[in-house]
Amino acid sequence: MKILGIETSCDETCAAVVEDGRRVLSSVVASQTDLHRKYGGVVPEIASRAHLESLVPVVGEALEVAAVGAGEVDAVAVVHRPGLIGSLLLGVTAAKTLAWLHDRPLVGIDHVESHIYAACLEREALPFPCVGLIVSGGHTSLYACDGPRSQTLLGATTDDAAGEAFDKVAGILGLGYPGGPSIDKASERGSPKAVRFSRPWLDRDSFDFSFSGVKTAVLYHVCGHGAGAKTRPTDLTEQETADVAASFQECVVDVLVGKTLRAAEVRGLDRIIVGGGVAANRRLRTRFEQEAAAAGLDLVLPPMRYCTDNAAMVAGLAYHDVRAGEVAALDLEARA
Ligand code: KG4
Ligand code: ZN
Repeated sequence: MKILGIETSCDETCAAVVEDGRRVLSSVVASQTDLHRKYGGVVPEIASRAHLESLVPVVGEALEVAAVGAGEVDAVAVVHRPGLIGSLLLGVTAAKTLAWLHDRPLVGIDHVESHIYAACLEREALPFPCVGLIVSGGHTSLYACDGPRSQTLLGATTDDAAGEAFDKVAGILGLGYPGGPSIDKASERGSPKAVRFSRPWLDRDSFDFSFSGVKTAVLYHVCGHGAGAKTRPTDLTEQETADVAASFQECVVDVLVGKTLRAAEVRGLDRIIVGGGVAANRRLRTRFEQEAAAAGLDLVLPPMRYCTDNAAMVAGLAYHDVRAGEVAALDLEARA
């Protein structure tokens, strides 16, 4: 079964064709990073317009690379929630149009659930049951997962998502946009022990997260106590910047890895999967590899290209919905 997936929830126009839920025949991602860079963040209206321009060529390329016609796919799947409403509407409208035109089933996919599914792509066996950590620009959530369509939420962020904290701290330190990759890069030259930011563990038994305090601690550390959100440091050397970046990153990584391993222990699960844009972070990947091995846990870290937004995870997950008869009607709604 070949499924065409479309993902336009934020600032990447993505289309992919996946066979039988796991074999990726094509995955095309048109990034809008260059358009948003000068604003230091995603501008929703610009994102929508860019999706409008990119959607037809991106879907066309995904079909061409997979060597399948739009009328030959077995279903059309699309992310319809959550995300920027204008961006979502474009993907949803494109998917509905293709599904109606070629009389194919339509499948509506949740963006966060598709990030969990990224760990299933290009693997022989499905990695369930497991603990799943999803860390993206909009979410930081920990799940106990029994299957592609069966998850229990164990905890989530109470304020900033991990990726959001990376992006904001990169802004404070004057590092480039997008923030996550630039902190990842700057940290290479810095010491993770230079500054000891206190770890937001919250309650020992809690699987919730909170990163907004660490972000403020970074701001106060570099701009002085009581600095406003828009204050920027003026006299940080490159080494000091790298040290703060590495120390902040270590703090976030400690908490993400620590809580995920504890969730595995408490739930008696011996496998961990990680997904979402922050799962592309090299320090997070290394620490998970080290600590999962030390604890005797199986670890599934999807390749970087399936951590950040893509449509292969969407088309893959939809396979299970189609098989279960879970298809949407043409009045499927986009939900912010
Ligand atoms: O999953 P994603 O592509 O989009 C959302 O669903 O939000 O995640 C984007 C987030 C951004 O906050 C970005 O800064 C972060 O993932 N990110 C990273 C890295 N690459 C992307 N954060 C830390 N280190 C990275 N290497
Ligand atoms: Zn995402």
